[in-house]
Amino acid sequence: MRHQHRSVSLWILLASTQALGATEEPARYNPDTHVFTLSSPQVTYAFGVNEHGELQSLYWGGRRAPNDTLPAAKSDAGLSAFDPSNGATPQEYPAWGSALYTEPALKVSFPDGNRDLVLHYLSHTLNGSHVSVLLKDISRDVRVELRYDIDPDSGILARSARIENHTGKSLFVQQSAAATWNLPAGNEYVLHSLSGRWAAEWHLDHRPVLASQTVLESRRGSTGQQNNPWFALAPAGTGEDTGPVWFGALAWSGSWRITVEPDVKRRIRVTGGYNPFDFSYRLAPGESLDTPVFFAGYTPGGLGEASRLLHRFELTHVLPQAPHPRARPVLYNSWEATEFNVNEAGQVKLAEMAARIGVERFVMDDGWFGARDNDHAGLGDWVVNPRKFPHGLQPLIERVHALGMDFGLWVEPEMVNPDSDLYRRHPDWVLNFPGRPRTEGRHQLVLNLAREDVRDHLFRVLDDLLTRNDIAFLKWDYNRNWSEPGWPEQKPEDQQKVYVSYIRSLYWIMQRLRERHPKLEIESCSGGGGRVDLGIMRLTDEVWPSDNTDPFDRLSMQDGFTYAYAPGVMMAWVTDSPNWVNQRSTSLEYRFLSSMQGSLGIGADLTRWNEQDFQTAKRLISEYKSIRMTVQQGLLYRMISPRDGSPYSATQSVSSDGRQAVLFAFLHSSSMLYPYPRIHLKGLDPQARYRLRVVAGKPEENTPVEASGDYWACEGIELMLKGDFQAAAVVLDRVAPQS
Ligand code: DGJ
Repeated sequence: MRHQHRSVSLWILLASTQALGATEEPARYNPDTHVFTLSSPQVTYAFGVNEHGELQSLYWGGRRAPNDTLPAAKSDAGLSAFDPSNGATPQEYPAWGSALYTEPALKVSFPDGNRDLVLHYLSHTLNGSHVSVLLKDISRDVRVELRYDIDPDSGILARSARIENHTGKSLFVQQSAAATWNLPAGNEYVLHSLSGRWAAEWHLDHRPVLASQTVLESRRGSTGQQNNPWFALAPAGTGEDTGPVWFGALAWSGSWRITVEPDVKRRIRVTGGYNPFDFSYRLAPGESLDTPVFFAGYTPGGLGEASRLLHRFELTHVLPQAPHPRARPVLYNSWEATEFNVNEAGQVKLAEMAARIGVERFVMDDGWFGARDNDHAGLGDWVVNPRKFPHGLQPLIERVHALGMDFGLWVEPEMVNPDSDLYRRHPDWVLNFPGRPRTEGRHQLVLNLAREDVRDHLFRVLDDLLTRNDIAFLKWDYNRNWSEPGWPEQKPEDQQKVYVSYIRSLYWIMQRLRERHPKLEIESCSGGGGRVDLGIMRLTDEVWPSDNTDPFDRLSMQDGFTYAYAPGVMMAWVTDSPNWVNQRSTSLEYRFLSSMQGSLGIGADLTRWNEQDFQTAKRLISEYKSIRMTVQQGLLYRMISPRDGSPYSATQSVSSDGRQAVLFAFLHSSSMLYPYPRIHLKGLDPQARYRLRVVAGKPEENTPVEASGDYWACEGIELMLKGDFQAAAVVLDRVAPQS
């Protein structure tokens, strides 16, 4: 894949070898011991070639002293006749062959019926922070190139594999992971992962790693809401602030699988990549298959530090505007106000009201095209509806610009309603098995982007839309998962390539649109948070975490989200009360404070607001602009979790330059006159002085207006919160030292 290693080359550019010592490269090879090490100032990852020629994992954890030689890899003797050596040896990329009983990273089948593959070391190259190791089967010319990179700042590793067929005959790849990660033995690990469903995404789960395999996966053709491709493994007892954590995230937006399993000696292996379910990828002679990238890191600093490392890494190495993403603009979105009922006059009215409160981007959601009056028709026909917009989009866009905002538009390019001109013209363009029913979701079918004609058509339509109209932002929606994933135009043996080719086409379209329209920004939305992963995040600037916009439900979703992803990419709208999801009533200030923990958006029907609402919104949007870089790109401390029935929750963010800290505190429900817990701030310079500014709520009477970082950490701050669904926010600005 063309852009798969974009971050890798960035790392080479950014590699700060100085922090490691002037002569020390992040990636090293010891020819005496055949040991490879990848190091950052905090982390070392090591593997070596053992006496059989297998590539064996050796070490992953805190930084090892460069003058301590890691001993050569020596295969595991195995446990008994039932568990012989090669299955027991923790390999970097175990192929299914010989006697392997744990999850293989690679499984192939040859045309003669042989399915045995045993990979041994062949050669390697090293360059700065990059190692590439070539493995080859013991008798057949199947080669696997394993690629490793380490980010010298965070110690986060990127691993992927390329499977090459040099046998002279076709073979089938039936399973191919990006990597197998072997964790240090001797810990009773707890697996932390994220699960959910529509309108209830981002639930943080914890479970002990037992003697059986745990599978996190999506078979849906896209990332999915049910599991997210992120994991953290930590010994029981590791908390937010202390304890070792090994964590990882897979950069793939199609069907994926991560398995976590102990071997017979209770050593944990994590294997992740393409989901092998229904997977088959034929490699003709000379062809190769690239896996996605699997990122992973280590920290001794608890789950909080693991998140902060990932956030920083996403901002500096993954997002399209990395290493310096611009602040996310405050946007308005029309969906909850108008649904499909959009037209020029109505949108102009909303835009005028949005501009009054300081919105910077106006986004028109669904309903502007084709026969799209509801979700039964029109998807696929990306032509402006002349009844709703008699003069096209231009007058609305011009008005939005005149109001000082840029313009964004909703699209759902991968889908088609059977009731559409596109489907009537091209019924063969959707995923389908001929002669079988075509299961609809939200009255729509999935276009088969793996087909080049479909891919090119979508690119042309979107390119044309962006060329004709001054559009700064696309909200890219995707409102169902796959069914009947057939690709009948391909030979039967190549049809399952759809799992790879579709996603590559999706990335290709987004990449080309961004190249052709450099100021374009994209939001990844899938009926909420169904397509959030580090693969799509290379091409999209923000994501829509959930269709559930209730500000209280959002608190726990936002908390879960931040275990894996940076708050700045998390779009959060202020919508109407009572909320449509659960009829819960909350104050406008509470709704704002909940949304201000991420990238702020407004999704309310502004025509129903009174003057006081406008004043509140204007004030809080202006406050948000003064703290947004801290919230979006700073260091996040989850002070009190909203999970597990806690009546409180609080987060604190510290700007990357240490000049500002922002504290959000929420009281879900008061009971028995208990005071709100005192919050001891984190991440402040103990010597520096910080001045307190109250955005909302009230600190306890005796709270000083200015004090040292040490004071705010030791004495903390008490907020006077009482009642149900109450919120407060305060800012601490560092006072410049007197000269
Ligand atoms: C699902 C999205 O998540 C909503 O925000 C909205 O854009 C609708 N689709 C529009 O159909």
